[in-house]
Amino acid sequence: FNNKQLVGKKVVVTAGPTMEPIDPVRYITNHSSGKMGYNIAKEARDRGADVVLIAGPTNIEPPAGVEVVRVNTTREMFDAVEKHFSSCDVLIKAAAPLDYRPEKVMKEKIKKDSEGMEELNIKLVRNPDIVSHFGKIKGDRIVVGFAAETNNLIQYAKEKLIKKNLDFIVANDISREGAGFKSDTNIVSIIDKEGNIEDYPILDKNQVAKIVLDKVCTMLNIKS
Ligand code: C5P
Repeated sequence: FNNKQLVGKKVVVTAGPTMEPIDPVRYITNHSSGKMGYNIAKEARDRGADVVLIAGPTNIEPPAGVEVVRVNTTREMFDAVEKHFSSCDVLIKAAAPLDYRPEKVMKEKIKKDSEGMEELNIKLVRNPDIVSHFGKIKGDRIVVGFAAETNNLIQYAKEKLIKKNLDFIVANDISREGAGFKSDTNIVSIIDKEGNIEDYPILDKNQVAKIVLDKVCTMLNIKS
């Protein structure tokens, strides 16, 4: 068994949420912790890959020996992926980028001063879907997505797999105990483009990372 299966391969991993500013003091974000992506980056490093970890705002310590690129907004994450995409062999999109951003970022702090300000509307506009963009131009690279859902898990995940042109998707039902954003564990199903579905029990995120990279390695072997 060769545990350095990824020597000579460049693996780009995205992790964590993104954040979008509203004004100089406020922003919107989500509950992604970055743990899943960080575990994947670490496992890819352990298998000998050159790893670029593109991370949104998180509090966790990045693994040593990987190149860390820090970003805030979804568009910054897009640009960072673009910079590394052409030279990579594998893109794993474990991040949860914000799908929408405030149309305008106020230069000054929004005040609640006067009477009659009982409502405040902030118009949001769509961000680019990063994995979808790069999935469509992937060539022979392997592109892996995640799907965090609260209902119709397998159906939604299958739709994303096809729409975003992924090699496989890791689906997790975030409404289940022991799965999802903040947890150290996850409960996943892996669906590939051949239509195979593998359901896994509750596992530590480092175990899930091994399963994801086993699948990546199998696919790379088939190609070479
Ligand atoms: O948001 P959604 O459930 O469609 O996310 C599924 C996959 O798409 C994830 O792998 C996520 O990282 C990716 N995604 C992305 N850019 C976005 C939104 C989602 O790359 N703006």
